[in-house]
Amino acid sequence: MKLGVNIDHIATLRQARQTNEPDPVAAAAIAERAGADGITIHLREDRRHIQDRDLAILRQTVTTRLNLEMGLNSEIIDIALRAQPDQVTLVPERRQEITTEGGLDAVKELTRLKKQLPKFRAAGIRVSLFIEPTAAQIAAAAKTGAEFVEFHTGAYANAYPHEAAMRTELNRLVEGVNLAFAAGLRVNAGHGLTYHNVAPIAAIPAVEELNIGHSIVARAVLTGLDQAVREMKALLQ
Ligand code: PXP
Repeated sequence: MKLGVNIDHIATLRQARQTNEPDPVAAAAIAERAGADGITIHLREDRRHIQDRDLAILRQTVTTRLNLEMGLNSEIIDIALRAQPDQVTLVPERRQEITTEGGLDAVKELTRLKKQLPKFRAAGIRVSLFIEPTAAQIAAAAKTGAEFVEFHTGAYANAYPHEAAMRTELNRLVEGVNLAFAAGLRVNAGHGLTYHNVAPIAAIPAVEELNIGHSIVARAVLTGLDQAVREMKALLQ
C-alpha cells in the first residue's frame, strides 16, 4: 500500500503566524526521506494553508509524486495546468468548511467534468476524483475518463470506535472497490485516517494508495516536541 502524505497542515501552522516556518517544502523532503510515495497539497480558493508559491516550489523539489487537490474552479484549473503536478485530485470545496466534507458529486458535475478533464489529460496530468463509494458516483466517475477515484473514508473514520458501524462502512468501501474495478477505475482512499483506524483500510486488496494528512502532522507535533524543547532549553543555558 502506498502512502501519500498530505502536508496542508504544515502550512496551516505557518499561516497562523503569517511567517516562514514550518516550511511545507522542508516537510515534503522529510516525508519523502521517511518513505512517502507521494506528497499531496490542496490549493484552496481562500489560500488558508498552501500558497501558490508552495505549489511552484514543491513542483521543483518533490521527487516522488506531487498530487494537487483542487476544486473545479477556473482560476485553480489554470494554475494547475501551468504548475503541472503529476496528479490532480478533484474535490468539492466550500469556503466555510473546516475540511473537505463530502465527496465530489460526479453525477451532478458530469458535464463539467467531461469538459474539464481532457485539459488535464492533454497536459499529461493524471486525474483522480474524490467520491463516496456509491454505485452512482462510481458509474459517473467512469464516464468522465478519470483514471483514478479516491474513496472518501470519512464515514468509516467517523464510525470509530464503534466496531459494527466501522464494519458496515468498511464493507461499503470494499464493494465500491469491486465496482470501480469492474468499471475500469483505479482506486485510492483517504480522509480521516489515523494510527488507530487505518489498518483495516490498508488491508483492502487493490486499493493503491492512502492519502493521510491531519493525523500524521498531529503526531509529528507531539513526537517532535520533546526534542524541540530540549534544543531551546540548551540555547538558554
Ligand atoms: N484525501 C482528500 C481528497 C482530502 O481532501 C484530504 C484532506 O485534505 C485527505 C485525503 C486527507 O485527510 P486527513 O487530513 O483527514 O488525513
